[in-house]
Amino acid sequence: MTEHASQRDRVAQTIQRTLSEFLSAQNLSGPGNPPAALVAAMRHGCLNGGKRLRPLLVMQTASIFGLGETRTLNTALSVEIVHCYSLIHDDLPAMDDDELRRGLPTVHKEFDEATAILAGDALLAHAFGLLADPGCHPDPQVRAALVVELALGAGAGGMAGGQSRDLEGETTGFSIDEISEMQAMKTGALIRASVRMGAILGRANAEQLSALTTYGEAAGLAFQLADDILDLTASTEQMGKVTQKDATRSKPTLVSRIGLAAAERHLGDTIHHAVSALAMFGPEADGLRATARYFAERES
Ligand code: IPE
Ligand code: IPE
Ligand code: MG
Ligand code: MG
Ligand code: MG
Repeated sequence: MTEHASQRDRVAQTIQRTLSEFLSAQNLSGPGNPPAALVAAMRHGCLNGGKRLRPLLVMQTASIFGLGETRTLNTALSVEIVHCYSLIHDDLPAMDDDELRRGLPTVHKEFDEATAILAGDALLAHAFGLLADPGCHPDPQVRAALVVELALGAGAGGMAGGQSRDLEGETTGFSIDEISEMQAMKTGALIRASVRMGAILGRANAEQLSALTTYGEAAGLAFQLADDILDLTASTEQMGKVTQKDATRSKPTLVSRIGLAAAERHLGDTIHHAVSALAMFGPEADGLRATARYFAERES
């Protein structure tokens, strides 16, 4: 196993364990007790598998600045929780209408649509609570900056806006630039935010933050490009979600617009761009370099 593969495994185990702890009825209670079915749906959407690559990015970026994994935990969990919520809603009949996620029935299939919508809502709220909690970081200014960053990544100019464009693109012909912009938003924005939140935790200076932002943007584009390629080339068993669906639903993807071979070349160029952005860093950024390469090589 490569060093990167064992780091991925370790982070995935940490995230699985801590998510299970954080997403308990006790930890989710507010002025009232959370309904059992809602908690079960939230857990179903978060705890079953998942590569946990966004937490990995938070941790690897923060580690450039000498921060250990435990000091990044709330931040890493908050990004993963927003990602899981986005998948629960992405799979709904009103969006991609999918029945399989991470090898299991999607949340609206296992429960019902209303519960899936509400599980997403509750997860999104919980993610911001984790960032604002003093356990996230001792400095309230850092916590506020993290909240702002996640809000920008998840909101109308980020993931949610990109999802809206993705649906619009099912019926409107998108240009190559419009497809890239939609991808940068629906998937790129949370990946960019993961890297930038790691940089905020590490108190990166402006120049470092700018380089890491360029890395995050390129890595984010590459990630969705690989997802679109895998939708065409990988099996349902391999991916744990039904593949060959983008063409059926007339999704606006670069694969459909420029063809598989050109999309693969573009993926290679984008990874190269991501890695080049890290030129100012030494071996402390090797983890991020390996993650960018993994984004293109992954088989699930
Ligand atoms: C899938 O994301 C959805 C996209 C943004 C392309 P991942 O491939 O990271 O999904 P999990 O979390 O590993 O299941
Ligand atoms: C999902 O893109 C992006 C978000 C969830 C924000 P896709 O719709 O391609 O993701 P999969 O293929 O269903 O995982
Ligand atoms: Mg989608
Ligand atoms: Mg989908
Ligand atoms: Mg996809």
